[in-house]
Amino acid sequence: MDFEDAGSDIVSVVVTAEQIAEGLARMAREIEADLSGKRPLMVGVLKGAVMVMADLARELTIDVEMDWMAVSSYGRSTKSSGVVRILKDLDSSLEGRHVLIVEDIVDSGVTLSWLLENFASRGAASIRVASLLRKPDAMSVDVPIDYLGFDIPNEFVVGYGLDFAERYRNLKGVGVLNPSVYSDGA
Ligand code: IMP
Ligand code: MG
Repeated sequence: MDFEDAGSDIVSVVVTAEQIAEGLARMAREIEADLSGKRPLMVGVLKGAVMVMADLARELTIDVEMDWMAVSSYGRSTKSSGVVRILKDLDSSLEGRHVLIVEDIVDSGVTLSWLLENFASRGAASIRVASLLRKPDAMSVDVPIDYLGFDIPNEFVVGYGLDFAERYRNLKGVGVLNPSVYSDGA
């Protein structure tokens, strides 16, 4: 869906579909330069990273494998609980693999720092991180992002995989959600 289709539920546009495509292309060129010939294992963090994974993987000109992990995040709230729980683990072994974690957004950095530690203990040869978006809070924690699309303001956003209570993942761009949507409990 486009922003117009969401009516007043989206109060401002943060990143357009065109900007996302440009950002992913830039990230893909950097990834190719680093990981060509290494057949990286891309690990998408469900469910938010589905769109980034689909478009970034197709933009890449190198051979990759894809796997998925699901961890708990915000549920119906818009604040991080700080608790990370595995809902679905990887199918692949990470032993000797060059891993590329694919994220939609790094906010507090809690999820990412937990994943980095967890994956390091599984014997990966290298671990890199690609995230389409980053919020300012992430910079106060030590979370290295190797390939970043955009820094965005500290507001709750939806679209391109990012949801509020499972809604608006199918927006083509990313926008700020009208706070009335979550204060209504809609
Ligand atoms: P963390 O705070 O960096 O651990 O982020 C955890 C997860 O919260 C992210 O992977 C997203 O799925 C979700 N998240 C963070 N900020 C937003 C937002 O603005 N909108 C929707 N989901 C978000
Ligand atoms: Mg996520």
